[in-house]
This record gives sequence, structure tokens and C-alpha cells, in this order.
Amino acid sequence: MAEFVRIHEVGPRDGLQNEPALIGVDRKVALIDLLGTSGLRDIEVGSFVSPKWVPQMADTDRVLARLRPVAGVRYGVLVPNLRGWDGFVAARVPGVTYEVAVFISASEGFSQSNLNCSIATSVERLTPVVHAAQAAGVGVRGYISCVTDCPFDGPVPPEAVARAAAMLRKVAPMQVSLGDTIGKGTPARVAAMLDAVMVVVPLADLAGHFHDTGGRALANVKMALDMGLRAFDSAVGGLGGCPYAPGAPGNLATEALLELVHGLGFTTGVDVDVIAKAAEMARAMR
Ligand code: HMG
Ligand code: MG
Repeated sequence: MAEFVRIHEVGPRDGLQNEPALIGVDRKVALIDLLGTSGLRDIEVGSFVSPKWVPQMADTDRVLARLRPVAGVRYGVLVPNLRGWDGFVAARVPGVTYEVAVFISASEGFSQSNLNCSIATSVERLTPVVHAAQAAGVGVRGYISCVTDCPFDGPVPPEAVARAAAMLRKVAPMQVSLGDTIGKGTPARVAAMLDAVMVVVPLADLAGHFHDTGGRALANVKMALDMGLRAFDSAVGGLGGCPYAPGAPGNLATEALLELVHGLGFTTGVDVDVIAKAAEMARAMR
């Protein structure tokens, strides 16, 4: 039987957070609702971060209120601190399955730029969020940014990524998504990074999050697949990037990821025709 690859759609969050023009709630919800019919099981729909830092995500409460939840789909939101958790709690809709994503960096430079604090402080701030989510029965995932390169500190040693992964997993068991935030990674460096991280987090609990800035996202996915990774993040239409990482535009496009993994014989449960329509809708938002 064909092996399954799990795709975590991050376009409505990691994609739209980086668009210069503000996208209205109606258009975001239309995209999310279409994605919800594609067979995707995980869709990240927004962030409860400071609206001064990321204005594009300031309407996430309204997005949660308006989206049409699909049974079996988990809707993800990014939460950096308890203030964000409180925002999520006030906005969540009963009966919908959510996942809260906490995020840290493997490099100090990006941690300061993205969260205005050190890596250690960011872990202190996310710890009560994770505990609150566990107490509330809400799933948690953790992101590590700059797993190969940092826009401020340069190349990031694999051991730093393994240390960051261990910090997250000390807080609680969670899937850890490994972000090549600025798309500078090469297959060889991704392999070295995965080798180091696999010592502290089982492969089954890891995901790859590649940005295509350097045009190598698919080659990096292929290397990770060869090493046994079976979960990847992508953004429909290749939307995106991170506003605090200069040079980060261009998440790996979901449609390109699907073509690669289906071509290699994996199943995903995702309908490529629906994703093609969603990609068209996403590209029109640019
Ligand atoms: P700060 O300025 O140090 O925070 O920012 P503060 O605690 O001093 O608070 C300052 C103000 O923000 C206060 O309001 C707080 O109440 C408010 P004021 O008194 O000035 O009116 N505040 C908040 N408001 C709403 N929601 C909150 C919140 N927290 C504080 N949660 C902070 C610290 C973490 C808030 C800020 O740095 C921030 O919001 N950063 C988020 C940046 C971000 O979202 N980046 C993009 C996502 S990460 C990414 O894209 C990478 C990823 O895709 C993986 C990869 O590719 O690598 C995940
Ligand atoms: Mg990203």
C-alpha cells in the first residue's frame, strides 16, 4: 500500500502574513473554506500575535468566527504568549478542532527580530501557552525557524537546531516543524540538520517547512523524504514568507509539493484539482 505523506497547509497564515496589502476577512475565509474541501487535514488560518507587529493577522478572531468548519480538519493558529492564548480562547468557536502553534528560533538573531526576546525567554513565554492548551484539550505544534540559515547570524549549526528541538520537547510532546525560513538550505545541509534533530525527536514527530527562496525547496523535501520524513508544510499558490526575515518570501507551493510526492508514489488524501483552484485564488490575492 502506498505510504501517506501529511501536508500541513500554512498559506492563510505564513502566506498572507507577508502580503503588503491587507486582505479582507471575506477573501481569507473564501480561501480557507475552499482548502477545507480539498482533503487537507491541517490548515493554519491565522495568528494571535501583536497586531502592531503583524497587521495582516489582526483579524484572526473574525476569520475563526466566519470560517465554515469541516469535520476532520484541524484549524491552526500561531500563539507566542499568554496574551495570544487569551485572544484565541475569546475567539474560538465551540465544536471546532483547533491546534495552537508555538514558535521559537534556532538562532538568537532571528529570535530577537521576530519575538523581541532571546530563545530562552521565548520558551519561557510559550510554556504556559502549551500547558493551557493541554489543559483545554487543544493540540499543540512547535515551529523552529532558521534551521539552516539565519538572516542575521548566518549559517546555523545542526546542534543549535537539535538544542532548540529539545527545549520544545521538554515543555511537552508535540510535532516539531523545522523551518528553513529564508530558503537557503541545501539538501546536504538539510540532511545534516535532520541527522542531529532525529537524535532528540523521533522522525514521526517532525515536519519539514521549506521556503523556496533559493529554488531548492523541492530538492530539500526529496532529501527529507529519502531520510524518512513524512510530514511537510506548504502554502497554496506559493504565498508567503515571514515579515521579520528579510529574504523569506515564497513558501513551498502546496501544488508543487503534491506533484512531487504523488509522482513518487505517496498518497496524501488531497485533491489536486481543488488545490489548483485554491492556488488561483491565492495568487489573485497578491
Ligand atoms: P513585544 O513588543 O516585545 O511585546 O512583542 P510586549 O509584551 O512588550 O507587548 C507590547 C504590546 O503588544 C502590548 O500592547 C501588548 O499587550 C501587546 P500595548 O500595551 O503596547 O498596547 N501584545 C499582544 N497583542 C496581541 N496579541 C499578542 C500580544 N502580545 C503582546 N499575543 C511579541 C512581543 C511576541 C508580541 C511580538 O514580537 C510579536 O507579536 N511577534 C510575532 C511575530 C510574528 O508573528 N512573526 C511571523 C510568524 S513566525 C514565522 O513566520 C516563521 C514560521 O513560519 C516558521 C519558519 O518559516 O521559520 C513559523
Ligand atoms: Mg514559514
